[in-house]
Amino acid sequence: MIHGFIKMKSKNILGIDVGASGIKGAVVNLETGELITERIKIETPKPSTPEAVAKVIAELTKRVGYEGEVIGCGFPSIIKNGICHSAANIDASWKGVNVAALFSRATDKKVYVTNDADAAGVSEMKYGKGRGVDGSVLLITIGSGLGSALFTDGVLVQNTEFGHIPFNGDIAEKYASNNARKRDELTWEEFGRRFNEYLHLIEGLVSPNLIILGGGISKRYFLFEDYIDIETEVMPAAMFNHAGIIGAALYAYQMGLTKEKEGMRKEKV
Ligand code: BGC
Repeated sequence: MIHGFIKMKSKNILGIDVGASGIKGAVVNLETGELITERIKIETPKPSTPEAVAKVIAELTKRVGYEGEVIGCGFPSIIKNGICHSAANIDASWKGVNVAALFSRATDKKVYVTNDADAAGVSEMKYGKGRGVDGSVLLITIGSGLGSALFTDGVLVQNTEFGHIPFNGDIAEKYASNNARKRDELTWEEFGRRFNEYLHLIEGLVSPNLIILGGGISKRYFLFEDYIDIETEVMPAAMFNHAGIIGAALYAYQMGLTKEKEGMRKEKV
């Protein structure tokens, strides 16, 4: 078990992205924002209980051969101080679980956990399409659910959950996520038109300067971009679906640095 603070010696950090269908991870070089090991993907266990997912996190860490002490993890729920506060696309038993503590025990490393879309957003702001963009930037991840990360002049507003705003008699992700596309067997045109409706709502609420699309189908944005007609500029994430892994690693590094400074201050007293 790791006690006290850890000196952030290396800028190569393992980033893990927990999704409803897959748990993906790789070591990220944070100087460049690139993956420096093979990306390992393990199917999300069903049911995706805390014990079962923690086992996969430990297995993935071993398979990557990671020897660092700090891990970053993006998790598909509201996360406050490492604790899970919602469970839309994961097992209901996650609610109230200290995800950070559970994964730290499972790996014997210090794991920092944040919302998956927030992680992807942090990555795009530093290395991708949000870099140097002033004003508000909104990243929306399209996968099993819809995730969101909102930045104003580069500062993140955590846990915005714009995929859960009421829309068409339900929450938006039930209508315009990749799961909804598959469930309703939509053509790309039909999906594009639905997603466009959702973007109009978001644009009206947030008036961002830029919308970045991440998640599983961001690579296929060209298939539905013709049906998007909002005023705001929309573009796919530079790192596509890797943004979640890279952002998780970056989040952990930044948290680690903050803790290191706090620890050094306390040691001096
Ligand atoms: C969850 C979010 C998550 C998103 C993408 C939503 O259902 O509520 O926390 O970011 O899915 O995984």
